Amino acid sequence: MTDATAHLDALTRVIPDFPEPGILFRDLTPVFADAAALASIADALVAPFAGAYDVVAGVEARGFALAAASAARSGHGLLLVRKAGKLPGATLTESYALEYGEAALQVHVDQLPAGTRVLLVDDVLATGGTLAASHRLIERAGWALAGTAVVLELDGLGGRERLAPHEVLALQRA
Ligand code: PRP
Repeated sequence: MTDATAHLDALTRVIPDFPEPGILFRDLTPVFADAAALASIADALVAPFAGAYDVVAGVEARGFALAAASAARSGHGLLLVRKAGKLPGATLTESYALEYGEAALQVHVDQLPAGTRVLLVDDVLATGGTLAASHRLIERAGWALAGTAVVLELDGLGGRERLAPHEVLALQRA
């Protein structure tokens, strides 16, 4: 067991029936609040990609916390993949399906030079809609996807298959 997975096992709080009855919610806020846990997870998300990326991207909102920690600890900049309507400059937009309805993510079109190698980080891979939309944004912007890393992969929701042929590093599965 790695340091990161030991911290996750010790600190992840499992909450039944949130946000809806029948959902078993895995709350990472105690992991974020612990300095050693946050550092080990931030490092574990990017370590396998050392030398292969130029910037770390995080998906709003929980992905921001992880990506910022990973970027700062590994000496890289941070790209924000934001929910629609928050970025002031010229944007690219990709929509994705939610259980009820639709949401959209955006990046600034001119944020990074063409060919920049982007390592994408988020907290959870569930259906894969969020990360698939993020992949499309990176591609449309002319950047190169260097890898995708999440803390937790939820089995049985088809997320990994949806992102194929792109691989995903998951620190933990449930
Ligand atoms: C959650 C989570 C992932 C996404 C995973 O984000 O942080 O980004 O869902 O689900 P998917 O694989 O089915 O797309 P949410 O939109 O709840 O945002 P938050 O981080 O702002 O809570």
